[in-house]
Amino acid sequence: MKILIAYRSRYGCTRRYAELLAGKLAGEVTVADLRREGRLSPAAFDLVLLGSPIYAGAVPAGVTRFCQRHRSALLRVPVGLFICCLYEGEKARAQLDSAYPDWLSLHAFGRWTLGGEIRPDSLRFFDRLLVRALVQGVGELSRFRPEDLQDILRRVGQLPS
Ligand SMILES: Cc1cc2nc3c(=O)[nH]c(=O)nc-3n(C[C@H](O)[C@H](O)[C@H](O)COP(=O)(O)O)c2cc1C
Repeated sequence: MKILIAYRSRYGCTRRYAELLAGKLAGEVTVADLRREGRLSPAAFDLVLLGSPIYAGAVPAGVTRFCQRHRSALLRVPVGLFICCLYEGEKARAQLDSAYPDWLSLHAFGRWTLGGEIRPDSLRFFDRLLVRALVQGVGELSRFRPEDLQDILRRVGQLPS
């Protein structure tokens, strides 16, 4: 099975999840950073996992562009969607619900929220300002949990090959 794991990541957390997933999935796995490979077509794959961080409540515009550009190809294969964020519970779920276009969320065989991470020292200037308000709401700055990937791996394993 040819699997595409496509992601965006500014600070590396979503990339780490993507790479961990790639290491655990059986098949021919391609990991693609959409910042560099947004034109890569999902049409050549049997399964697509699409992952994105949440910044100020939304996914980066490049993720939405990727979805629109490849709409018909995405609708032809099983797609799993995940976001990487610091909010948990209801707030995280609400962010997941609005992260991807409705047509893609409805098509997806699974959707997940994975715990994000902020390292204050690494933040760009404007991000630092944005994050101040967020930090008061979330408390903890590292929710990177590789074990969050178990359910994705389980669901992918249940798909017909
Ligand atoms: C500028 C900025 C804004 C953020 N806004 C949100 C937010 O609205 N909701 C949330 O749950 N997490 C938010 N986060 C946390 C990120 O989603 C989290 O740090 C994620 O791991 C970033 O992924 P990356 O390391 O792949 O870039 C924000 C982080 C930054 C830096």
